[in-house]
Amino acid sequence: MKREQFSSSLGFILAAAGSAVGIGNLVAFPVMASKNGGAAFLIIYAFFVFFICLPVMLAEMSLGRHTRQNPLGAYTEIGQNRAWRTVGWLSVITPFMIGVFYLVITVWIAGYLGKALTGQLDQLAEPASFDVFTNSNELFIYMALVVGLTFLILQGGVKKGIEKATTVLMPLLFVMLIALVIYVLTLENAMLGVKFFLVPDFSKITGQVLNGALAQAFFSLSLGMGILITYGSYIQKNNNIVTAGKMVAALSLLVACCSGLLILPAAFSFNPDIEISELSESSIGMIFMFLPKIFLALQADIGYFGASFIASFFFLLVFFAAMTSLVSIIEVPVASLMDGKGLSRRKALYSLGGAMIVLAVISALSFGRIEWLSNIMSYGDNTKSFFNLINDMFYETILPLNGLLLCLFVIYRWKKHNLDAEMSQGNDSFAGSFLQKYVNFSLGTFIPAILAIIFVNTVLTIYF
Ligand code: PFF
Repeated sequence: MKREQFSSSLGFILAAAGSAVGIGNLVAFPVMASKNGGAAFLIIYAFFVFFICLPVMLAEMSLGRHTRQNPLGAYTEIGQNRAWRTVGWLSVITPFMIGVFYLVITVWIAGYLGKALTGQLDQLAEPASFDVFTNSNELFIYMALVVGLTFLILQGGVKKGIEKATTVLMPLLFVMLIALVIYVLTLENAMLGVKFFLVPDFSKITGQVLNGALAQAFFSLSLGMGILITYGSYIQKNNNIVTAGKMVAALSLLVACCSGLLILPAAFSFNPDIEISELSESSIGMIFMFLPKIFLALQADIGYFGASFIASFFFLLVFFAAMTSLVSIIEVPVASLMDGKGLSRRKALYSLGGAMIVLAVISALSFGRIEWLSNIMSYGDNTKSFFNLINDMFYETILPLNGLLLCLFVIYRWKKHNLDAEMSQGNDSFAGSFLQKYVNFSLGTFIPAILAIIFVNTVLTIYF
């Protein structure tokens, strides 16, 4: 069967941006930036996006388009040995497991959206509401909803599913985000938040902050998950990969900045004397514990309907962003089953989806509802739940490792001239350019070295 393709470069850019724009940019980024020096963090983050992540992104996309394969197929075809095939497996198992983790979060977002739409803001803002939600059977209804929608999109395939959904959802998402930013900036004391976000404080930049910023940029651009190899395998031969990669990186960065102009001003208008340490550590805490309090407080100013409307609008935005990311990550194992086992899209989707739902339910139940799942393993200083375990292992640890292996594979196994040839397709001015030299040099030297440092650092901090 002929491999499906995106209908245009724009179709691919929106699909890849849909993957990149997610909870990472919308929520994790503003929190990290505010705690770590505001614009100083932003500058460093932007530097990492373009000088470290972009080359990796171009390498993933080129590898995908050249092989016209999922990651396992690509590593197997070019690697020609067992070791690389194992790396290929890792690049399919990782998105599968991160997909489980992301599915759980998307289900919660859907639940919060449901509650906001029905005006139950007081419930959401209660400190215990998150527990109640994870412990109630409503979870299963929302799980069915999210899985149903994701499957509906993926069943349509590349053009009629992924591309169609992202070309509608992404522009909508941008417009909604800008509308929310404009609204929040009109609130009292919002400018305090803007100042906090935009005034650089370089004294906050430490080695740990650099490490966190790079890991965040890497995750946020959906690298190391095989997503861009898979999406890359659907790009037309004459499309310009380099321009597309730059656009995706820029869009993702832009959304992160807008989101900083949304969340911090909102926090300061809620409480002008807020201490930055009061902002949640994690993006999960931010979306599910902190922001609902702001929405509830809004009721006093703009009334019940106004506040419910704004809250619903916000959760819908996050929901769209999460859905387009979830779709991209599930496509990786789906494509692997289709390519590797010759299954139809529908069969691949149902068999993987089934396994994913089981694991997602187990993860969701590991939030206290089932005791032993909530304390499944002990390492570092804590006892971890099944959900934390997946997060630590796959997202925190294996992701940078996958990136590192990918760089080595592309430069030393697949070889530079093949990468160059792929990046030069549809791009006459690329050969001999600074970018070409930079990508080749960095991917074979300091980028894998930096990823190796992050990997070792993470292992040492998490497990010991
Ligand atoms: N860019 C996504 C985010 O920031 O949330 C990264 C991502 C994570 C994509 C998990 C897909 C996914 F399943």
